Amino acid sequence: MTDSVIQLPTAGETVLETYERIARRGPLVPVELTGGVAAWTAMSYQAVSEVLAGDGTVFSKNAQKCPALHDGTIPADWPMRAFTDIDHMLNKDGEDHRRLRKTISAAFTPARVAALESQIRRIAAELIDGFADEQGEVDLIPRFTLPFPVRVICELYGVRDADQSRLRDWAAILMSHTSTAEQMQAAMGEMLAFLGDFLEAKRREPGDDLTSAMLAANTDNLTTDDMVNMLWLVIMAGHETTVHLLANAITALSDNPEQLDKALTQDRWADVVEEALRYRSPVYSANLRYAQRDVTIAGVDLPKGAIVIWNGNVGRDPERYPEADVFDIDHDHRGQLAFGRGPHVCLGAPLARLEARIALSALFNRFPLLRLAQDSALLAISPQIMTAGPLALPVRLYPAD
Ligand code: HEM
Repeated sequence: MTDSVIQLPTAGETVLETYERIARRGPLVPVELTGGVAAWTAMSYQAVSEVLAGDGTVFSKNAQKCPALHDGTIPADWPMRAFTDIDHMLNKDGEDHRRLRKTISAAFTPARVAALESQIRRIAAELIDGFADEQGEVDLIPRFTLPFPVRVICELYGVRDADQSRLRDWAAILMSHTSTAEQMQAAMGEMLAFLGDFLEAKRREPGDDLTSAMLAANTDNLTTDDMVNMLWLVIMAGHETTVHLLANAITALSDNPEQLDKALTQDRWADVVEEALRYRSPVYSANLRYAQRDVTIAGVDLPKGAIVIWNGNVGRDPERYPEADVFDIDHDHRGQLAFGRGPHVCLGAPLARLEARIALSALFNRFPLLRLAQDSALLAISPQIMTAGPLALPVRLYPAD
């Protein structure tokens, strides 16, 4: 094995395997992103904590503050510009970020999330009813984990039933690794146009929903584009992450039936969710950050201008977690980093936790003997480098005869 810089992604292996190789190299590791672009990945709990502590001071999330993106070093058609150049709060710092986050936070309150509980239970039950009688294999991704979060977000936003399937289809196209560039561009354009019209309709006729509450909370003169981009970001940030969280939790419970028994008999679903987030985070690397000065992270010198990503799977860091590779819902989850930390800490974490708790408890209470129909090590994994999870989740709801 050579010590050449690891490519992320590397052809011929899954992104999970690539991240495992990177983790073996140390706490902060140089990598080569798509197109040969140089970057660093923070891999250990300590390194990620230090990077996040520098948000807004040592590190910027604003692409304008990354010289390589503007001086010709990185070409204009670099595919990752789809993440770096888009105008939303995940790519802003300081006051620019604060005014956007303040407005949505005033609407996305813990009370609004808690009030969704009965609708979330209903959505989970309806989806489960749709496959409950199947005696053979069921792929839970199209039948359960994929439609579930987008239906919840539609309830949260106040999207009419008739429009929900359109939003679901656009989100699915944008997240699918088999969509063409034209399909993605078309879906993006149609989705943003729909959200613009939807926002105007809510302005004329407000309801008891997050969209109307966000419009009412807009005392910082956010533009319509700011708010449309915000609605878009929340759908996209909250969708695939939740799909992967559910799939990872179902896989881990199927592989560890004694943990499933404990969850069922002791009603430990909140701990199942925390452990699933620790054991395999849906976010393998969060959006790019740009070093604003020379800095030392976890003992490694990083030059000004460096592009940095951080690994959300720090729950496997053996220096932080004893028996890190064992799925055990009794692990201590204080200091969990799967949702990030600091100014950009996941806005949807309370909703994600509630959704996952309800979905997993509804599924396994209905089918306590549910097991994967395939060896979990053989599940095909999505090829994206930012988020990773199974592409299909074949299960048997009842033991095979
Ligand atoms: C299910 C598991 C989820 C995980 C593991 C997750 C993880 C994360 C992480 C790590 C960040 C920080 C990124 C960074 O620092 O660069 C983040 C930010 C964010 N998340 Fe989540 N997320 C999840 C679900 C959700 C949900 C359900 C929503 C909304 C409904 C959501 C909305 C957001 C938003 C809007 C941000 C940007 C916050 C900001 O820039 O201030 N996420 N998420």
